[in-house]
Amino acid sequence: MAQAQAQARAQRRRNGSGSECKEKEFRERSEGQGPQLQHRLNLTSLNNNNIINNANNSKAKATMVTVLAMTVAMLLLLFYSSSTSTGITSETTGTADHAVSVSSGADADAVINLDHGDPTMFEPFWKNAGDKATVIIPGWHTMSYFSDTSNLCWFLEPDFANQVRRLHRLVGNAVTHTHHIVVGVGSTQLIHALLFALSATETHQPVSVVSAAPFYSMYPGITDFLKSGLFHWAGDATSFKVNGTSSFIEIVCSPNNPDGALRRAVLSTEAGKLVHDLAYYWPQYTPIRGPADEDIMLFTVSKATGHAGTRIGWALVRDADVARRMVKFIEMNSIGVSKDSQVRAARILQVISDGYELPDPDSTTRFFHFSRRLLADRWQRLRQAVEESGRFSLPQFSSEFCEFTEEHAETYPAFAWLRCDDESIEDCEGFFKSMKVLTRSGRHFGAGPEYIRISMLDRAHNFDLFVERIASLGLG
Ligand SMILES: Cc1ncc(COP(=O)(O)O)c(C=O)c1O
Repeated sequence: MAQAQAQARAQRRRNGSGSECKEKEFRERSEGQGPQLQHRLNLTSLNNNNIINNANNSKAKATMVTVLAMTVAMLLLLFYSSSTSTGITSETTGTADHAVSVSSGADADAVINLDHGDPTMFEPFWKNAGDKATVIIPGWHTMSYFSDTSNLCWFLEPDFANQVRRLHRLVGNAVTHTHHIVVGVGSTQLIHALLFALSATETHQPVSVVSAAPFYSMYPGITDFLKSGLFHWAGDATSFKVNGTSSFIEIVCSPNNPDGALRRAVLSTEAGKLVHDLAYYWPQYTPIRGPADEDIMLFTVSKATGHAGTRIGWALVRDADVARRMVKFIEMNSIGVSKDSQVRAARILQVISDGYELPDPDSTTRFFHFSRRLLADRWQRLRQAVEESGRFSLPQFSSEFCEFTEEHAETYPAFAWLRCDDESIEDCEGFFKSMKVLTRSGRHFGAGPEYIRISMLDRAHNFDLFVERIASLGLG
């Protein structure tokens, strides 16, 4: 029976065609749009001036100016939002068909913010999903603090837990039947909860927290933000000296943010505890090499489905005591996790699984195939532009067999870890900033200023402008 189901699942797959939202980022985002908004305001005031010159009555003048200014502003805003926020390009349909174009006017001046990993590139899939992915919550639902008091994680919505297990079973990227699920406000809250859970019972304190460089730039900040007496950031795991029986926590991110590399723990002693951050272990980014079976594994809808704003992550935790201490932390921190968000996340995960498991899926209902095609196209175009520029380089990855798609597959990381090879460029981030492209310097990841991290997950319009700017460097 189980074998027949597995075969049917494999057949279905074969039929397939193939926060960091932080204060600084919000500031830079609004700064980034500054010139464009200013440009629009200037246009509006120019129009106003013409109107004023032709009117005789000053009161009528003022009324007309106001009405027309508002109309012009609304039309400009509508135009702007439909051309950028909806990302209307060939990516909307999941095809990889880009005409080469040279931007002009506002596009040529636009500041492109690829500093943060905001996963808006997946919006077209969810637009297309329409009502299937829409959730309506009646006013009297989800009012209680409690979800399931018989569960160790009493604020975990049962339907969300079921959809998490179902999706992992479908994709084959993690074992779940031996693990407890702890839900969190994104995996960011779960990292906080884990640092507490893994250090609270230690006698040698503070516990050192490490990760191999280049590491996710938020790990140091998350660790040291509250100046806890339980743990502290101790930097690059590869240069960390294990000291007798002193305990440490190593965070292993695989595929790694920022460079997409597959990672294993670099420190392996009895004294150490490992946290596996598997935010990017999904088929759109990397071949699935089998179910991960680590003691502690972290996932998030932010990177799995693109729903960063829903703020839902989950930890798969083997040890009940560790899971219990995480639950305690979340109880003290936020008395649980929004049920509304869990209900929404459950529906989103369900739509993905249904797309593969219900009869007659077409290519636009298979989320991982859809998003993988978009990423493949973006990487191909970026690599070509980088090569033609002759000044930068990108990591290379070998293709591997993917057990989900049952094909050999390439790696398409969520970030490009770009190196400025041109020795005249001392500060790669500054160089790109001078081209009005905001990226994040290697310094934030425990690496040098010759590196930058670039988000590959932004909306199509921004990404297209970015590739165009890199390509223009090769023309000189
Ligand atoms: C490796 C890694 N872990 C955790 C997170 C945090 O994700 P969340 O949005 O679930 O808090 C991110 C977000 O960029 C990430 O890249």
